[in-house]
Amino acid sequence: MSRRLRVGVLASGRGSNLQALLDASAAPGFPAEIVLVLSDREGAEALVRAARHGVPARFVDPKAAPDRAAYDEALLAALREHGVEAVCLAGYMRIAGPALVRAYAGRMLNVHPSLLPAFSGLGGQRQALAHGVRVSGATVHLVDEGLDTGPIVLQACVPVLADDTEATLSARILVEEHRLYPEALRLLAEGRLSLVGRRVVIEPGR
Ligand code: GRF
Repeated sequence: MSRRLRVGVLASGRGSNLQALLDASAAPGFPAEIVLVLSDREGAEALVRAARHGVPARFVDPKAAPDRAAYDEALLAALREHGVEAVCLAGYMRIAGPALVRAYAGRMLNVHPSLLPAFSGLGGQRQALAHGVRVSGATVHLVDEGLDTGPIVLQACVPVLADDTEATLSARILVEEHRLYPEALRLLAEGRLSLVGRRVVIEPGR
């Protein structure tokens, strides 16, 4: 197999999207490998999942950095140390600052539990329920310096049912997140994403 893209994952919590990426990258022929997982939360389940897969995992303490820029520099140093070429944000609860975003421009992905640009920020599922929309979904996008504003790579819809709670809607959306995120990473790793203005064009596979 040709060389695989070296990917770092930033995650704050449960890490089910990280798990989807780890599982996908374990499959023969997947063009990317997860080489490092970093978390801003000590004991995050994501770190445990990484360790279980033999992937280096590290808690980077936000309190040890005087400000956000310094924290991002600490993350960047770790990413560079491990030769990370692309970054996936997977339930990472901080905003990646300009230095981090610029270092990985066009090579940083995020997954969000709504059909962006609707319901960006926290609680995409809660916002969908509050607005009474009939469909919602999941988005994987390239990360820019805004909050969930980067160019959209893949989206999938799910219905919002009359008796949905935040938990049931989140679970339905999560199924799509886990399907889309590895697929988006595959496209990035295969060099099949290009930008025309703010639109992502997906080149056909060979
Ligand atoms: C997901 O819903 C993701 O879209 C959002 O945070 C949640 C993280 O879940 N950004 P997990 O940690 O990947 O299980």
